[in-house]
Amino acid sequence: MLKVKMKKAINKQLNAELYSSYLYLSMSAYFESVNLKGFANWMNVQAQEELSHAMKFYNFILERGGKVILSNIDPPQTEWNSPLAAFEHVYKHEQKVTSLINSLVDLSISEGDHATNSFLRWFVTEQVEEEASADEVVEKLKLSGKSAGGLFMIDRELAQRVFAPPTAQTQVEVNKTSGIWQQELSGIMNIIPGGKNDKETTNL
Ligand SMILES: [Fe+2]
Ligand SMILES: [Fe+2]
Repeated sequence: MLKVKMKKAINKQLNAELYSSYLYLSMSAYFESVNLKGFANWMNVQAQEELSHAMKFYNFILERGGKVILSNIDPPQTEWNSPLAAFEHVYKHEQKVTSLINSLVDLSISEGDHATNSFLRWFVTEQVEEEASADEVVEKLKLSGKSAGGLFMIDRELAQRVFAPPTAQTQVEVNKTSGIWQQELSGIMNIIPGGKNDKETTNL
Protein backbone atom coordinates (compact mmCIF):
# COMPACT_ATOMS: atom_id res chain seq x y z
CA MET A 1 0.00 0.00 0.00
CA LEU A 2 1.33 3.42 -0.95
CA LYS A 3 1.70 6.00 1.81
CA VAL A 4 -0.16 9.29 1.27
CA LYS A 5 2.97 11.38 0.67
CA MET A 6 4.39 8.91 -1.86
CA LYS A 7 1.05 8.52 -3.64
CA LYS A 8 0.72 12.30 -4.03
CA ALA A 9 4.26 12.59 -5.39
CA ILE A 10 3.74 9.77 -7.93
CA ASN A 11 0.44 11.28 -9.08
CA LYS A 12 2.32 14.55 -9.59
CA GLN A 13 4.98 12.74 -11.64
CA LEU A 14 2.23 11.11 -13.73
CA ASN A 15 1.08 14.64 -14.59
CA ALA A 16 4.67 15.69 -15.39
CA GLU A 17 5.02 12.76 -17.82
CA LEU A 18 1.74 13.71 -19.50
CA TYR A 19 3.01 17.28 -19.79
CA SER A 20 6.24 15.96 -21.39
CA SER A 21 4.15 14.05 -23.91
CA TYR A 22 2.10 17.18 -24.61
CA LEU A 23 5.24 19.32 -25.01
CA TYR A 24 6.83 16.89 -27.51
CA LEU A 25 3.60 16.55 -29.46
CA SER A 26 3.56 20.34 -29.69
CA MET A 27 7.15 20.28 -30.96
CA SER A 28 6.12 17.61 -33.48
CA ALA A 29 3.35 19.93 -34.73
CA TYR A 30 5.86 22.79 -34.96
CA PHE A 31 8.24 20.67 -37.08
CA GLU A 32 5.32 19.61 -39.31
CA SER A 33 4.52 23.30 -39.81
CA VAL A 34 8.05 24.01 -41.07
CA ASN A 35 8.06 20.84 -43.20
CA LEU A 36 10.77 18.98 -41.31
CA LYS A 37 9.07 15.58 -41.32
CA GLY A 38 11.99 13.65 -39.80
CA PHE A 39 12.20 16.01 -36.83
CA ALA A 40 8.41 15.79 -36.49
CA ASN A 41 8.65 11.99 -36.45
CA TRP A 42 11.33 12.02 -33.73
CA MET A 43 9.15 14.26 -31.55
CA ASN A 44 6.07 12.15 -32.23
CA VAL A 45 7.92 9.02 -31.05
CA GLN A 46 9.19 10.97 -28.03
CA ALA A 47 5.59 12.00 -27.21
CA GLN A 48 4.50 8.34 -27.34
CA GLU A 49 7.39 7.35 -25.07
CA GLU A 50 6.37 9.95 -22.51
CA LEU A 51 2.80 8.68 -22.62
CA SER A 52 4.11 5.18 -21.91
CA HIS A 53 6.06 6.60 -18.94
CA ALA A 54 2.84 8.16 -17.66
CA MET A 55 1.10 4.78 -17.99
CA LYS A 56 3.89 3.09 -16.04
CA PHE A 57 3.17 5.46 -13.13
CA TYR A 58 -0.59 5.03 -13.63
CA ASN A 59 -0.34 1.23 -13.43
CA PHE A 60 2.07 1.35 -10.51
CA ILE A 61 -0.34 3.47 -8.42
CA LEU A 62 -3.13 0.96 -9.14
CA GLU A 63 -0.93 -2.06 -8.40
CA ARG A 64 -0.08 -0.57 -5.02
CA GLY A 65 -3.73 -0.02 -4.18
CA GLY A 66 -3.69 3.75 -4.69
CA LYS A 67 -6.10 6.06 -6.51
CA VAL A 68 -4.99 7.79 -9.68
CA ILE A 69 -5.79 11.51 -9.63
CA LEU A 70 -5.51 13.24 -12.97
CA SER A 71 -5.07 17.00 -12.92
CA ASN A 72 -4.75 19.86 -15.44
CA ILE A 73 -1.96 19.68 -17.99
CA ASP A 74 -0.35 23.06 -18.64
CA PRO A 75 -0.47 24.24 -22.27
CA PRO A 76 2.95 23.76 -23.87
CA GLN A 77 4.93 26.26 -25.96
CA THR A 78 3.91 26.13 -29.63
CA GLU A 79 6.69 27.93 -31.53
CA TRP A 80 10.48 27.75 -31.48
CA ASN A 81 13.02 29.96 -33.26
CA SER A 82 14.89 27.06 -34.85
CA PRO A 83 15.33 23.25 -34.69
CA LEU A 84 18.33 23.90 -32.42
CA ALA A 85 16.21 26.02 -30.04
CA ALA A 86 13.62 23.20 -29.88
CA PHE A 87 16.22 20.51 -29.14
CA GLU A 88 17.94 22.69 -26.54
CA HIS A 89 14.52 22.96 -24.93
CA VAL A 90 14.20 19.12 -24.98
CA TYR A 91 17.61 18.76 -23.35
CA LYS A 92 16.78 21.31 -20.65
CA HIS A 93 13.38 19.72 -20.05
CA GLU A 94 14.87 16.24 -19.67
CA GLN A 95 17.39 17.58 -17.13
CA LYS A 96 14.45 18.97 -15.17
CA VAL A 97 12.64 15.61 -15.33
CA THR A 98 15.81 13.88 -14.09
CA SER A 99 15.78 16.13 -11.03
CA LEU A 100 12.08 15.29 -10.45
CA ILE A 101 12.86 11.54 -10.63
CA ASN A 102 15.82 12.01 -8.28
CA SER A 103 13.57 13.78 -5.77
CA LEU A 104 11.10 10.89 -5.99
CA VAL A 105 13.94 8.43 -5.32
CA ASP A 106 14.99 10.54 -2.30
CA LEU A 107 11.41 10.45 -1.01
CA SER A 108 11.16 6.67 -1.47
CA ILE A 109 14.32 6.33 0.64
CA SER A 110 13.18 8.70 3.40
CA GLU A 111 9.77 6.92 3.47
CA GLY A 112 11.45 3.49 3.53
CA ASP A 113 9.37 2.48 0.49
CA HIS A 114 11.53 -0.23 -1.11
CA ALA A 115 8.95 -1.26 -3.74
CA THR A 116 8.70 2.30 -5.09
CA ASN A 117 12.45 2.67 -4.91
CA SER A 118 12.90 -0.47 -7.01
CA PHE A 119 10.22 0.68 -9.49
CA LEU A 120 11.95 4.07 -9.90
CA ARG A 121 15.28 2.53 -10.86
CA TRP A 122 14.01 1.98 -14.42
CA PHE A 123 13.34 5.72 -14.69
CA VAL A 124 16.77 6.64 -13.33
CA THR A 125 18.38 4.64 -16.17
CA GLU A 126 15.86 5.92 -18.70
CA GLN A 127 16.72 9.54 -17.85
CA VAL A 128 20.41 8.95 -18.61
CA GLU A 129 19.33 7.81 -22.09
CA GLU A 130 16.83 10.64 -22.51
CA GLU A 131 19.41 13.33 -21.75
CA ALA A 132 22.04 11.67 -23.94
CA SER A 133 19.77 11.33 -26.99
CA ALA A 134 18.61 14.96 -26.78
CA ASP A 135 22.18 16.21 -26.32
CA GLU A 136 23.32 14.14 -29.31
CA VAL A 137 20.88 15.95 -31.61
CA VAL A 138 21.81 19.35 -30.08
CA GLU A 139 25.47 18.69 -30.87
CA LYS A 140 24.71 17.54 -34.42
CA LEU A 141 22.65 20.67 -35.04
CA LYS A 142 25.45 22.86 -33.69
CA LEU A 143 27.95 21.12 -35.97
CA SER A 144 25.76 21.53 -39.03
CA GLY A 145 25.42 25.26 -38.29
CA LYS A 146 23.06 26.94 -40.74
CA SER A 147 23.84 24.54 -43.58
CA ALA A 148 20.64 23.37 -45.31
CA GLY A 149 22.41 20.15 -46.39
CA GLY A 150 23.31 19.31 -42.79
CA LEU A 151 19.77 19.96 -41.61
CA PHE A 152 18.38 17.76 -44.40
CA MET A 153 20.73 14.92 -43.42
CA ILE A 154 19.71 15.14 -39.74
CA ASP A 155 16.06 15.24 -40.79
CA ARG A 156 16.53 12.01 -42.76
CA GLU A 157 18.23 10.37 -39.78
CA LEU A 158 15.51 11.40 -37.31
CA ALA A 159 12.88 10.01 -39.69
CA GLN A 160 14.20 6.50 -38.89
CA ARG A 161 13.15 6.54 -35.24
CA VAL A 162 10.34 4.15 -34.32
CA PHE A 163 8.42 3.77 -31.10
CA ALA A 164 9.21 0.70 -28.98
CA PRO A 165 6.95 0.19 -25.94
CA PRO A 166 8.84 -0.10 -22.62
CA THR A 167 8.22 -3.86 -22.40
CA ALA A 168 9.78 -4.33 -25.84
CA GLN A 169 12.67 -2.05 -24.80
CA THR A 170 13.20 -4.19 -21.72
CA GLN A 171 13.18 -7.31 -23.89
CA VAL A 172 15.78 -5.77 -26.22
CA GLU A 173 17.94 -4.97 -23.20
CA VAL A 174 17.54 -8.55 -21.96
CA ASN A 175 18.47 -9.89 -25.40
CA LYS A 176 21.47 -7.56 -25.58
CA THR A 177 22.60 -8.65 -22.14
CA SER A 178 22.20 -12.34 -22.91
CA GLY A 179 24.09 -11.78 -26.18
CA ILE A 180 26.98 -10.22 -24.28
CA TRP A 181 26.76 -12.99 -21.71
CA GLN A 182 26.93 -15.64 -24.45
CA GLN A 183 29.99 -13.94 -25.97
CA GLU A 184 31.65 -13.82 -22.57
CA LEU A 185 30.71 -17.43 -21.89
CA SER A 186 32.21 -18.52 -25.17
CA GLY A 187 35.38 -16.54 -24.28
CA ILE A 188 35.53 -18.28 -20.89
CA MET A 189 35.04 -21.68 -22.54
CA ASN A 190 38.10 -20.91 -24.66
CA ILE A 191 40.34 -20.75 -21.65
CA ILE A 192 38.78 -23.41 -19.41
CA PRO A 193 40.52 -26.77 -19.91
CA GLY A 194 37.87 -29.13 -21.25
CA GLY A 195 35.68 -26.22 -22.33
CA LYS A 196 33.78 -26.61 -25.61
CA ASN A 197 36.40 -24.57 -27.46
CA ASP A 198 39.40 -26.21 -25.88
CA LYS A 199 40.58 -28.18 -28.93
CA GLU A 200 43.33 -30.09 -27.11
CA THR A 201 40.92 -31.55 -24.56
CA THR A 202 38.22 -32.12 -27.18
CA ASN A 203 40.67 -34.16 -29.23
CA LEU A 204 41.51 -36.47 -26.35
FE1 LIG B 1 9.49 10.53 -19.16
FE1 LIG C 1 11.63 12.09 -21.21
